[in-house]
Amino acid sequence: MTQKTIQVHATHEHSHEGEGERLCMSRRQFLLFGGASVAMISLGGLPGLAEAAQAVKADYPRQKIGSLSALKNGVPIEFSYPYPDVRNILVKMGVPAGGGIGAGKDIVAFNQQCTHMGGPLDGTYKAEHQVLGPCPLHLTTFDLTRHGMVASGHATESLPQIVLEVRGDDIYATGVMGLVYGYSAMTTKRNA
Ligand code: FES
Repeated sequence: MTQKTIQVHATHEHSHEGEGERLCMSRRQFLLFGGASVAMISLGGLPGLAEAAQAVKADYPRQKIGSLSALKNGVPIEFSYPYPDVRNILVKMGVPAGGGIGAGKDIVAFNQQCTHMGGPLDGTYKAEHQVLGPCPLHLTTFDLTRHGMVASGHATESLPQIVLEVRGDDIYATGVMGLVYGYSAMTTKRNA
């Protein structure tokens, strides 16, 4: 495993860097950097953007999680990545999205644990609005077209986005942008 990002916090307007391995950035910066990651992948790398992308992305072993031909618009598929207890969804939304793959740039994958207090978002995808939520605990809803940004509710951090890659008909997960709830770093163990 190549650990490039330890922790990413999206705040409303303030950013602070240099707290050990902790990296804090504004929501605007997070979206920008997330976009940079996509740009780097699609453009083959640009000076400066590569470093920006690496600052928010943790790479893990490539894992096949689905296929283009099996996906149906608006019907999520669940999978675990990068560890068995980290639950995610893969979904073709029918509209272009940040970090989206496929011909329509509309296939994305996100972790299913709320970034506020870890509430389960399983089964809450709303195809008509391309959102995950509301969280059953405090009602946060996440916009999957915008890198999992908070659309409403208590959470302040975007939902971790699974980085995807297409090879032929196969869809692979290759990394995670952001921090899954319960992990102080994306190591193999949750916090005690
Ligand atoms: S745990 Fe999801 S909004 Fe609080």
